[in-house]
Amino acid sequence: MAQASVTRRYRFCAAHRLHTDHLSPQENQAVFGKCNNPNGHGHNYVVLVTVKSTVPIANGGGVDLERLDRTVTDQVVRRFDHHDLNRDPKFADRTTTGENLVLLIWDLLVKCLPVGQLEKVGLIETRDNYFEYAGSMSQAPVLREGHHG
Ligand code: NI
Repeated sequence: MAQASVTRRYRFCAAHRLHTDHLSPQENQAVFGKCNNPNGHGHNYVVLVTVKSTVPIANGGGVDLERLDRTVTDQVVRRFDHHDLNRDPKFADRTTTGENLVLLIWDLLVKCLPVGQLEKVGLIETRDNYFEYAGSMSQAPVLREGHHG
């Protein structure tokens, strides 16, 4: 049976610096460019959370959007808004790329929502950079290093 999904939009502002201790200062500069600036920089992140009811609407299903809003606010917005992403414990050993951030947001949300409800997480970082992840409960996200401009 056809089942539509719903996407809600959330926002937070956060600072970060792309840097890894696995590389020398010169290599960091070469890989990350101006995003390796020691003073860091900020983004107005937009998070797009797509969910789908696990029970068909015809059978009384539907997504509890108030619960979704509460979950995203508690797990994501409060955690990151006006924070330095590099200081988040989850980023202690990985760079704060959009790829890694969207995976972390997925991780934070999937365990707090009804099983099977979360369909996709999108993350707009800059005008031209959009990241997304549509994983599954059984699929642990593979965190990797990357770079953005
Ligand atoms: Ni950046």
